[in-house]
Amino acid sequence: MTHSISVGIDALAFAGPAAYVDLSDLAKARGVDPAKFTKGLGQHRMAIASPCEDTVTMAVESGAQAVRAFGIDPDEIGTLIVGTETGVDHSKPVAVYVHDLLGLNERCRTFETKHACYGAMAGLTASMDWIASGRARGRKALVIASDIASYGLGTPGEPTQGAGAVAMVVSEKPRLLRIQPRTIGDYTRQVMDFWRPLYSKYALADGHYSIQCYLDALRGARLDAVGERHDLLAGLSACLYHVPFVKMAFKAHQRELEMELGHALNKAEASTWQQLVESYERRCAPWLTLNADIGNIYTGSLFLSLIDLLRQAGADMAGEDISLFSYGSGCGATYCLGRIVEGAGDWRAALDPGEELAKRRRLGIAEYESLVRAGEQADRCETLDPFDYGLAGGLYYTGTRNDRRHYERG
Ligand code: HMG
Repeated sequence: MTHSISVGIDALAFAGPAAYVDLSDLAKARGVDPAKFTKGLGQHRMAIASPCEDTVTMAVESGAQAVRAFGIDPDEIGTLIVGTETGVDHSKPVAVYVHDLLGLNERCRTFETKHACYGAMAGLTASMDWIASGRARGRKALVIASDIASYGLGTPGEPTQGAGAVAMVVSEKPRLLRIQPRTIGDYTRQVMDFWRPLYSKYALADGHYSIQCYLDALRGARLDAVGERHDLLAGLSACLYHVPFVKMAFKAHQRELEMELGHALNKAEASTWQQLVESYERRCAPWLTLNADIGNIYTGSLFLSLIDLLRQAGADMAGEDISLFSYGSGCGATYCLGRIVEGAGDWRAALDPGEELAKRRRLGIAEYESLVRAGEQADRCETLDPFDYGLAGGLYYTGTRNDRRHYERG
């Protein structure tokens, strides 16, 4: 793989809610075998946002962390894109609140992208094009993925919820991951696998069909990126995927290996199944620990896996190639290849959200359900007090007065 144009990810940071639900508690409350959630889906916990934590607050916290921890001057940011499917207004973009709350320069192009979980990859590739065209004039782009995944109480999607934001700074001298534009492949097809009508707070999903759509899109995007390659995986140190739940990454990796082998795999063929398991254990599983702990964060979930990889192996994998696959229901997808930059390992502490995650509060199921119900009313609440939700020390949504959303540090 040649890397003539050096554009890619220069900084990365995660921010998310202060509370979570343990999936063994949820399984018990729903009368389900916990192994279905932990082994069948591969999930252990899901982050739950309170009414005071929304797409804007999480985006700002992740953006501030990326800029601070990687020593970036906010005035260097010339494009801000927020990818989200959890907008807070039909018209006004989340990005413009974020622009204000991060104190970015007015000479900045700012917008929101929506295409289900694909919005942040759309933002990443658009900002790479902005840089490669010369229009950036040496400036950097800030792309933030921020979402709250909600399917409603007692639905099949409930154990695949989550919430959080990943901020990435994109530049022409990236310190973490270089992406080769010529290896970017795309795929689009109109499908009704997952959607959220204007009248609903909750996503609707044709769950099993959505898995099929995801796998078809992976095939299509990979073919567009690298063609009929039968030897690609051998040269990759890691394969990162959109992760609605951890087991989906296994299904995706299986599909990639099937494409290379030219036939479907099943457990009855012990030796090829073993080849799949070994490849998955080496190239995918180690980088799914944050996803298992946080849940589906929609637009940010692929990049959460990238944070996990870089915090654990940024030093050991310097100079090595990885693949990234982003899927957004509806559907749109991109497959691309990247190379980990020499020195990426130096940013381990800046990237690692481990300390923040360890401080999270475990919610009982009754408290989780009451937070979900309170969330349904949050957009219309005049006054919300973060203290009522055990929150302090961050940026919070404090209610909508005179039809205007308010954000305050508490
Ligand atoms: P379900 O029908 O309740 O679960 O919903 P299931 O019966 O399919 O079981 C799930 C797995 O657990 C299966 O494994 C079972 O065998 C296993 P598999 O056969 O798939 O390998 N299982 C057990 N394992 C161990 N012990 C047990 C046990 N019982 C069962 N006792 C579904 C699952 C994912 C469909 C549901 O949660 C859902 O609808 N989720 C939301 C949709 C979704 O996540 N789709 C993923 C692809 S689309 C996508 O990624 C885009 C998305 O992020 C949105 C966006 O783009 O914005 C969703």
